[in-house]
Amino acid sequence: MEKKKLAILRNEVKEDHQLWIKACKEFSDRIDYDVIDLTKSDWMKRVRDGAYDGLLALPGGWTTSYKTLYDERVRILHGELGLPIFPTLGEIEVYENKKYLSYWLAANQVPHPKTWVFYQEEDAMNFLQTTTLPLVAKTSVGGGGSGVQILKSKSAIKHYIHDTFSGHGVAQVVGPKWRKKGFFMRVIRKMKNMREFREKLSLYTHQRSEVQKDFALFQEFIPHNFEWRVVRIGDSFFAHKKLVKGEMASGSLLKGYENPPLALLDFVKELTEKRGFLSQAVDIFEGADGSYLVNEMQCIFGQSDPYQMLVDGQPGRYRWLNDSWVFEPGDFNRLESFLLRLECFLEILSKKETPVLA
Ligand SMILES: Nc1ncnc2c1ncn2[C@@H]1O[C@H](COP(=O)(O)OP(=O)(O)O)[C@@H](O)[C@H]1O
Ligand SMILES: [Mg+2]
Repeated sequence: MEKKKLAILRNEVKEDHQLWIKACKEFSDRIDYDVIDLTKSDWMKRVRDGAYDGLLALPGGWTTSYKTLYDERVRILHGELGLPIFPTLGEIEVYENKKYLSYWLAANQVPHPKTWVFYQEEDAMNFLQTTTLPLVAKTSVGGGGSGVQILKSKSAIKHYIHDTFSGHGVAQVVGPKWRKKGFFMRVIRKMKNMREFREKLSLYTHQRSEVQKDFALFQEFIPHNFEWRVVRIGDSFFAHKKLVKGEMASGSLLKGYENPPLALLDFVKELTEKRGFLSQAVDIFEGADGSYLVNEMQCIFGQSDPYQMLVDGQPGRYRWLNDSWVFEPGDFNRLESFLLRLECFLEILSKKETPVLA
């Protein structure tokens, strides 16, 4: 079989694409690869000159300006130059863009918490008169709960709206977690690895530069003790619970690995198939009536354990085969699932009549 030539499109954060590199190295018998910095001015020339079979994307998720850069350039490379890309363009567009995701979910009639986006202070203030409490306010980019606030009084919402539109803006809360137990030991350990420490600090500075001033995003409050995280990569499905610590499940790293209900997998299969999404972590609330509501959809996501799902205590995956869900025990999430992503992309590329992905 002929080797495929792939380009890893790195973003503005130095080490962010390391797992793509590791995955490509594991498949060195099937892949040659280059890393192209999509944030540099020669991005298009380099991609053109390389005559690649496909592109491996690692969209950034820290600031709107770099998020826009990545979206725009990928749209040109895929949409205009016709290069296959993984994850798909549609997945990259909804990634780390909570306002766009809310439009996407509404347009595709996917159940989700009611969401309002206001670009005018007056419009937001009018909404305040009729809204019920509490209300969840979110910045459009930012993860780990950094841009999410639960507003419990009308005066808190008023301040939030005022801060947003007064020019002051709303920033994400990021930085070393010095209130957490063991902070000083962590710093000392990190100091031993100065490079990592400096990179972390410069990432915090980068994140803090993002201030949301143009619009406010509010969401109805959904009481919950956990979020389901359902992962789909290619035709493999996984699910576990992310448990709430304090007020949020995001960033808690507390997991529940009980057997997931099959109806949950049906829900995610249907929603990802609407636009051919192939690399997704879908975070889902269970409503009081047992219905599912989509909170987040991410094509790139962290993985803190070696597996994404246990069924009866065994790691493995579900696949939809001959009209039913079939559990297959095994180790499918190596390199934080990047190997599985790469396998999925190679399979797509190997099909001769590959349609250009949506
Ligand atoms: N509509 C909501 N109602 C109640 N809690 C919410 C709501 N949206 C988010 N949260 C809580 O806040 C956490 C962080 O919000 P999320 O939208 O997932 O942002 P992040 O990108 O920071 O993970 C979630 O894990 C959840 O526990
Ligand atoms: Mg989240």
